[in-house]
Amino acid sequence: MAVERTLSIVKPDAVAQNNIGEIYRRFEMAGLQIIAARMTHLTQAQAESFYAVHRDRPFFTALVNFMMSGPVMVQVLEGHDAIRKNREVMGATNPAEAAAGTIRHDLAETVDANAAHGSDSPETAREEIAFFFGEDDLHSRG
Ligand code: PPS
Repeated sequence: MAVERTLSIVKPDAVAQNNIGEIYRRFEMAGLQIIAARMTHLTQAQAESFYAVHRDRPFFTALVNFMMSGPVMVQVLEGHDAIRKNREVMGATNPAEAAAGTIRHDLAETVDANAAHGSDSPETAREEIAFFFGEDDLHSRG
């Protein structure tokens, strides 16, 4: 499996609960390198644009409101099979269905505040990384 990059977000609930370091530790333990990172507070326009693919879903407004409810950490993770690996470390979208030892099982309780986001495909990863970072922001260490 090739070296991949994926976009990760530590969501407002996890930032508020002081879990940034714990989540970063889990990425690094899984062999994922953090090659860019920034704290930001999404505007409504940014949250709506980032999640535009979900605009017709019933939870869209709740998702946007939650994502702009506090600061988030956005980061690019790099490593072999990084997209799948990140999603494995995060666990299922709904914390109630996430496996023990995953971020969402251990650090989140509800599907609307589920601690972390991760890109779901190489194409999405490229778009989501470009949403937050320029090529010069990425510090790949090989
Ligand atoms: S998928 O695989 O993209 O179809 O995943 P999905 O389960 O549909 O969820 C997409 C994102 O929406 C969030 N979500 C919700 N937010 C608020 N309320 C409810 N009920 C809800 N259900 C799903 C979910 O956390 C996903 O966010 P991201 O940031 O992409 O992980």
